[in-house]
Amino acid sequence: MGPKPRLSEAELEYLTEVDFRDHYALVAVAPDTPDGLAGVGRWVRNTEKPDEADFAIIVSDELHRQGLGTAITLALMTTARRRGIRRFTATMFADNRPAYRLFARVSTSLAVEDDGYVREVVAELPAATRPPVELPRAA
Ligand SMILES: CC(C)(COP(=O)(O)OP(=O)(O)OC[C@H]1O[C@@H](n2cnc3c(N)ncnc32)[C@H](O)[C@@H]1OP(=O)(O)O)[C@@H](O)C(=O)NCCC(=O)NCCS
Repeated sequence: MGPKPRLSEAELEYLTEVDFRDHYALVAVAPDTPDGLAGVGRWVRNTEKPDEADFAIIVSDELHRQGLGTAITLALMTTARRRGIRRFTATMFADNRPAYRLFARVSTSLAVEDDGYVREVVAELPAATRPPVELPRAA
């Protein structure tokens, strides 16, 4: 929920060496600028509640409002449902309207807790459907 200009070795390993079973990440890359990230989303299974996963997403500012956030989220929902996850939890600032609208649109029901500053959402995932994009075949 803020800038993070550097990653430690351990953080880099955690974020990139995902197992596609308890931790799944997708990146979107524009074909003409393959060195830059258009967006990245991930879910990490909750060890105490294995049918829940924490979800986070970011889309490059200049690509907002073109459906990329929705596409990444739907793809990750499909991968999660296929691995037994029924809901995503996410944390955002209470005034983060785009993220809230994104969750409201893609989940079948949404529980929200809000202290006026930080909002926690619990989004029920729809049943697994055909992935909207081709997904890596792993685990
Ligand atoms: C949240 C985020 C990923 C959405 O990405 P996106 O590619 O713009 O999303 P989409 O184009 O698929 O739009 C998703 C919804 O957000 C709405 N939205 C997008 N930008 C918006 C804006 N600036 N103001 C209001 N609504 C906005 C869209 O209208 C759409 O809602 P709708 O279906 O009701 O019309 C993007 O805004 C982002 O990266 N934000 C910063 C990181 C963040 O807050 N992540 C969420 C924490 S989990």
